[in-house]
Amino acid sequence: MGDWLRQSTLDRVDAESVLCYALQQPRSYLFSHSDEPLAPTVLKNLEQLSQRRANGEPLAYITGTAEFWSLSLSVTTDVLIPRDDTGCLVEVALSLWPTVPQDGFVVDAGTGSGAVAIAFAKETGANIIATDVSPAALKVAQANAARLVPGLIQCQQANWLHGWKPNSISLLLSNPPYIRADDPHLKAAELQHEPESALISGADGLDDLRTLIQNATTALMPGGALAFEHGYDQAEAVQALLINAGFQGIATVQDLSGNDRVTHAKAR
Ligand SMILES: C[S@@+](CC[C@H](N)C(=O)[O-])C[C@H]1O[C@@H](n2cnc3c(N)ncnc32)[C@H](O)[C@@H]1O
Repeated sequence: MGDWLRQSTLDRVDAESVLCYALQQPRSYLFSHSDEPLAPTVLKNLEQLSQRRANGEPLAYITGTAEFWSLSLSVTTDVLIPRDDTGCLVEVALSLWPTVPQDGFVVDAGTGSGAVAIAFAKETGANIIATDVSPAALKVAQANAARLVPGLIQCQQANWLHGWKPNSISLLLSNPPYIRADDPHLKAAELQHEPESALISGADGLDDLRTLIQNATTALMPGGALAFEHGYDQAEAVQALLINAGFQGIATVQDLSGNDRVTHAKAR
């Protein structure tokens, strides 16, 4: 297998990942078995997997697995591949958790793979309602939740917070779609494979955040908090929307790269 790795046109990390996936072995196996030849069926499989990667398909979709917050999540093309930057939303949620009423619902709206809800449940042991408009995404979230935090997460189909009982949510988390419809980044090869409905949010990227903020004005209980991920250049606009909607204690937190990433606020 050492020969295959040396000859692969993929970069080293991708080649090793594809090889581990084809062999269904951990990375350590490659070092202890590097002199072993590969079976013809494995070689054929590797050729197909390498071609998919060379065509720009994300590794996470090829292997069906993505790492987030030290969790190994199953992913399909029905869900966004969770990004490291979204760890910022989990950190903000954990800091808000002791400050909110403990008798309301915690909601992760637009849960996708369940990444945010599962990381939060893992850290706090709290019960969470994870919602998404996509039944296919909810199936992925449900399976991840059952495997990683059994009994803590309830998955529900919903269009943001439409129809939600007033004054019932103590902590609302969301990483909604927030890319502008004409954003040139959407042409990046990797984004071509992700669901458009998880990425794009109208002409200015703020349609879903506007809806969520509007919904939150009635759904959040007094003293409840919200935290939303957004684009690096959207903090000012999100803060303005929250001010206009009557929220208080509004602040923005930067991700590991120093970009504005999560804005949070409290209901009066
Ligand atoms: C950017 S992805 C975030 C996924 C996941 N929370 C994460 O951080 O990896 C946005 C998610 O919002 C969902 N979504 C889009 N429109 C929605 C709506 N109207 N109501 C609820 N969820 C929606 C998408 O299906 C997608 O799963």
